Amino acid sequence: MSYERDGVQYFAFQTGWSGFNSEPVAADAPPPYLNDGRLIVLRLGGAKVPVAPRAQRSPFLAIDLPQEPKLVAKGASAYLTHCAICHGHLGEQTLVPDLRRMSSTTYDNFNAIVLGGVLKSAGMASFSDILQASDAEAIRAFIVDWAQRARRDDPSASKMPVIPAGTETPRLPGH
Ligand code: HEC
Repeated sequence: MSYERDGVQYFAFQTGWSGFNSEPVAADAPPPYLNDGRLIVLRLGGAKVPVAPRAQRSPFLAIDLPQEPKLVAKGASAYLTHCAICHGHLGEQTLVPDLRRMSSTTYDNFNAIVLGGVLKSAGMASFSDILQASDAEAIRAFIVDWAQRARRDDPSASKMPVIPAGTETPRLPGH
């Protein structure tokens, strides 16, 4: 938007998340800068616009134990249905944490977060009305497997998971 104040012309626009994003983020080449929403206001002779800070990414979750493929498939299906819209489909960087990079403490507290709602005031609601403990366990197994593939640079880690036919997906009651 453009406006004038005390005879000075300003041009203001939003950028980053919740602003204008011209391209989807490439999962295998995440941008080096944080993309938090910012309001940039320009005027003739104004100050330099600061460059967005460089992204600091936590390492991938380091659990080596292979996960059971059926559980991983069920978890992938549930993840795509209930979690990917905020946490990302391909491991792309969003404002919401990349779950492949969760800490071992978050791993241990997974059910308290996903079913118990301990982070609800930060925007992570409880899914206990939709998911059982066995569903949360499957999602966690999928995320562990996904982090393992990402750690060994397996190209499947930045593609949509293939869900075998007949895999059960927990859905909203009545859907
Ligand atoms: C409406 C958006 C939304 C959806 C859908 C969502 N989450 Fe979240 N989730 C968040 C936000 C926001 C946070 C960050 C909370 C914070 O800052 O502590 C979060 C945090 C988390 C964390 C903690 C991550 C960490 O490293 O600290 C876990 C685990 C998690 N979510 C699991 C899930 C799972 C599993 C699902 C699907 C069943 C899911 N989330 C669906 C928004 C969402």
